[in-house]
Amino acid sequence: MSRDHVEFVQAQELAWEADPVFPGLERKLLSVDHDTGARTQLQRYPEGYQRSDPQGLACNEEFFVLEGCFYLNQFVYSPGCYGFFPAGFERSKCYMPENAVVLRFFDHEPALYSSDKAGADARAQGREAIPCLDTYRMSWDTTVHDVRLTHLGLARKNLRIDPVTGQRTFLFMTSPQSHPINFRGLQESHPTPEESYQISGDLSGHLGTMHAGAYFWRPPHIPHGPFGTRGGSVSLIRFVEGEHVNIWTDEQHAFNYNPPYQPVLPDWMERKGRFRPAPNY
Ligand SMILES: [Fe+2]
Repeated sequence: MSRDHVEFVQAQELAWEADPVFPGLERKLLSVDHDTGARTQLQRYPEGYQRSDPQGLACNEEFFVLEGCFYLNQFVYSPGCYGFFPAGFERSKCYMPENAVVLRFFDHEPALYSSDKAGADARAQGREAIPCLDTYRMSWDTTVHDVRLTHLGLARKNLRIDPVTGQRTFLFMTSPQSHPINFRGLQESHPTPEESYQISGDLSGHLGTMHAGAYFWRPPHIPHGPFGTRGGSVSLIRFVEGEHVNIWTDEQHAFNYNPPYQPVLPDWMERKGRFRPAPNY
């Protein structure tokens, strides 16, 4: 895998652009693998968009609906719905009665299935579709966590564990007014890339305070944290191409609720302006 380190960008700072892969749709490219074409992007569908011809892609896709209600295959999707379509899985009867924005994760270049059937079938091997999972209908799992993250008052909704690589996709929540005890804590790292899109709230860490729309792709073995939050947060997180393992540093690092924004961004990512969260007063 060779994706650039992106940590972190507020998606509001990126411009919508025509998607060369999906005519008629717009995208905000968040990260891309320069070797395989794997990518993560926001996809915007215009009101009235429809297609009825079955279409499959040559890559596996995970997706999460951020905005808009729409029809696809035999399901009705709304914000908070998640799905996994293995390579070759057909999409049909698509109709968007209103604007929709979907967070899409492709594990290879999203070419048509017909262009690479052998490769697609190999990528789909052993992987079952999750057509539609309404995450609002799931309860938070508060029982499983690393004690070194106790201060976050966290919980999780597991969306998918890949049966081949063990990689996990889940929603992650932190409780309001949470910070490391004595404002100092350990840093963690992982043997796999960690990817996150923040859905709501705020989360402060070593590179700044993330708000809804914050995205990062962090390559393996980069220490991060400690984290804290004033208002609580919900993020969609993926540990890619392997199991989720936490490796902790020995030394303590300081935390504060107002860290300076110090992004690590690739040259190809152009920001159109600076996102500033609305004040609460
Ligand atoms: Fe992490």
